[in-house]
Amino acid sequence: MNYQKTILVTGGAGFIGSHVVRLLVNKYPAYRIINLDKLTYAGNLNNLSDVEHADNYAFVKGDITDAGFITSLFEEHRFDMVVHLAAESHVDRSIANPIEFVITNVVGTCVLLNAARNIWKDDYSGKRFYHISTDEVYGTLGESGLFTETTPYDPHSPYSASKASSDHFVRAYHDTYGMPVVISNCSNNYGSFQFPEKLIPLAINNIKNMKPIPVYGKGENVRDWLWVEDHARAIDVILHNGKNGDTYNIGGFNEWKNIDLIHLLCRIMDNKLQREPGTSAKLITYVTDRPGHDMRYAIDAQKLNRELGWKPSVDFEQGLEKTVEWYLANQHWLEQVTSGAYKQYYEQQYATN
Ligand code: NAD
Ligand code: TYD
Repeated sequence: MNYQKTILVTGGAGFIGSHVVRLLVNKYPAYRIINLDKLTYAGNLNNLSDVEHADNYAFVKGDITDAGFITSLFEEHRFDMVVHLAAESHVDRSIANPIEFVITNVVGTCVLLNAARNIWKDDYSGKRFYHISTDEVYGTLGESGLFTETTPYDPHSPYSASKASSDHFVRAYHDTYGMPVVISNCSNNYGSFQFPEKLIPLAINNIKNMKPIPVYGKGENVRDWLWVEDHARAIDVILHNGKNGDTYNIGGFNEWKNIDLIHLLCRIMDNKLQREPGTSAKLITYVTDRPGHDMRYAIDAQKLNRELGWKPSVDFEQGLEKTVEWYLANQHWLEQVTSGAYKQYYEQQYATN
């Protein structure tokens, strides 16, 4: 079949990437979607079992930092567009091992940019390099204010510093080489297939197993939560209609203090597991704070709404309830990802508490 476009999605076996691959494969049968993923601890092909046999989908195992391999992949497929999600994505791991984040997030992004430029440079028409980034590049907010697309970068963790650096390289390729790029910076995502090292799935898993729920510091840090499928919809809209060289902030208009979110989750879990009200909340355990812990993130996503018509579709309490139901119904998935290396990570991360 002659496809209208061939799209490379990097990191498609991860949490957000798998939702993006699923959306693109199902919505655009005339596009060929190639999912490139190294399958690190965070990548899991079971996240895509419902689309793995689709005619317009193919998986390639590989590393974005391997320049020779990436060059031949671009030569073979001559991608029209790249949706770049592959990254090391967990702040706590970046504190333990910053260099890995520099290699994957900074070097990996540059390798992809370079390969795209080499293939596209004589004719950029119809081409697009879409870089998926985070609101954490903007640093931290006080009690008021929101991050906009013009908020100066001020990253504090090795993770956010590596993402900020990769964003700068993407803009540099636009400004220096005229590469057609677009960037989006999104707030915290939640939903199905999220690896249980991040707050919400970790808390669900621990509550289910009657294990302590580790809350960093006083639990007063604020995050702006977005349903992962709403992020995938935003990515689709920006991929097709975003303006070259532009940045779009994506957020849920949905700020929660960690401790309030955990209490809500405990109430939902008590209800779903038919436990006595208050049972799960007894598991809340305050632990040593994360070093350099950003106090508050909150996104102003009005540009995306105004210019491209996107807005979140799912109310947070409903989304959280659906997420809990998914984790409870997908016990096998959870067991599979929390076996082996996860146990070692967990013991190291929460050892001192
Ligand atoms: P994730 O950790 O669940 O998935 C990352 C994927 O990248 C995995 O499948 C992994 O195997 C793959 N990968 C890692 N290193 C690779 C390499 N060298 N080569 C090829 N593949 C590699 O991450 P996620 O939460 O789905 O985040 C995806 C992207 O979205 C990241 O760029 C992240 O910075 C960004 N983001 C995440 C959030 C969030 O709340 N999770 C919010 C905003 C932005
Ligand atoms: P996380 O899910 O790691 O996302 P990010 O650091 O990218 O925002 O953490 C979300 C918030 O929850 C953050 O303020 C740190 C906090 N947190 C805990 O209190 N306990 C935990 O065990 C984890 C993983 C996170």
